[in-house]
Amino acid sequence: MAYTDLGGREKELPQQTVPASASSRSNASSKKLRVDFVGNSPAMREIYSMIQLVADSSTPVLITGESGTGKDVVARLIHMSSPRADLPFIAINCAAVPRDVFENELFGHEGGAFTGATAKKAGYLEMADKGTLFLDELAEMETDTQAKLLRVIETKAFRRLGGKNEMNADVRMLAATNKNVEQAIAAGEMRLDLYYRFSVIEIHLPPLRERKQDIPDLISHFLTYFCQKHKKALKTISDEAMRLLMQYEWPGNIRELRNLVERAVILSPTDAVTPDILPVRLAETKQASDVITIPLGTSLDSAEKAIILRTLSFVDNNKSKAAIILGLSRKALYDKLKRFEIEE
Ligand SMILES: Nc1ncnc2c1ncn2[C@@H]1O[C@H](COP(=O)(O)OP(=O)(O)O)[C@@H](O)[C@H]1O
Ligand SMILES: [Mg+2]
Repeated sequence: MAYTDLGGREKELPQQTVPASASSRSNASSKKLRVDFVGNSPAMREIYSMIQLVADSSTPVLITGESGTGKDVVARLIHMSSPRADLPFIAINCAAVPRDVFENELFGHEGGAFTGATAKKAGYLEMADKGTLFLDELAEMETDTQAKLLRVIETKAFRRLGGKNEMNADVRMLAATNKNVEQAIAAGEMRLDLYYRFSVIEIHLPPLRERKQDIPDLISHFLTYFCQKHKKALKTISDEAMRLLMQYEWPGNIRELRNLVERAVILSPTDAVTPDILPVRLAETKQASDVITIPLGTSLDSAEKAIILRTLSFVDNNKSKAAIILGLSRKALYDKLKRFEIEE
């Protein structure tokens, strides 16, 4: 199934008044309906207030941010904090639905609309009636379909494929993308007019590395959750392990942190999570940034390549800075990049 339906359940607003750990849970026995929003950094507090402000209206909202930053969480929280909370929440991953059937899925069809369409079928718009439609990975939607979607937003009406009658679309639209929107527009993947319509309210989730102060709260939240789930006594984090977790850059953002905590809960034999339980990539972060390890038995050529690569990553790929550190002219550095077939 390419969609999830959270609708039609009882609504309970977040318990906490501070965004440190807001929990919307419409039915405690159903994990699917639970939305936890942890984050006390200024950025996350602002996002939480924004969610509460926009929840009441039916304006479209565009949620942006790298993969794993919490876009799904924000979409669900908007729905669950809105007057539509008891009604359906339909989440569609635009990348997961084949492009040639997307419009059929979105608008539905009348019987006989095309060969094989024997019975009429309701689309996502009808399924989400009076509720919320969350279009994840919006930039993956075909631009022709994006134009039709814009028309639905503006006219609040649509027709089933092969249908004559206009139907009312009382649907709150939320969309998300992990792409850089300007680049997606420049590349022709996202229609500018649709972007303008959605970006009236844009919620941008910063990557975890830019809000590291949220890490301890997130860790204790996930520790509590996974120790309970795996029926273990509540574990703590040793100081040294916490130091590693704080210094790591988290390319996979909160999703990576969550998976890592679950792994640590399962693997850790003691009450405290210690560095030896953490994946080696965490311990390597510090070393990666300012130490180069070249094992004995390495050829001069390979060593030179390793030094160049490590230096480039140390200066964020700034060739001029790398050349200065390496004591080379820019031209000499470029020649070496070419010789070692290092991508620029
Ligand atoms: N603020 C948050 N508080 C608690 N858990 C979060 C938060 N943001 C994300 N998560 C968790 O991290 C994982 C990834 O979040 P998700 O919303 O799916 O990210 P995205 O859609 O941006 O890829 C999910 O398991 C989600 O529950
Ligand atoms: Mg997502």
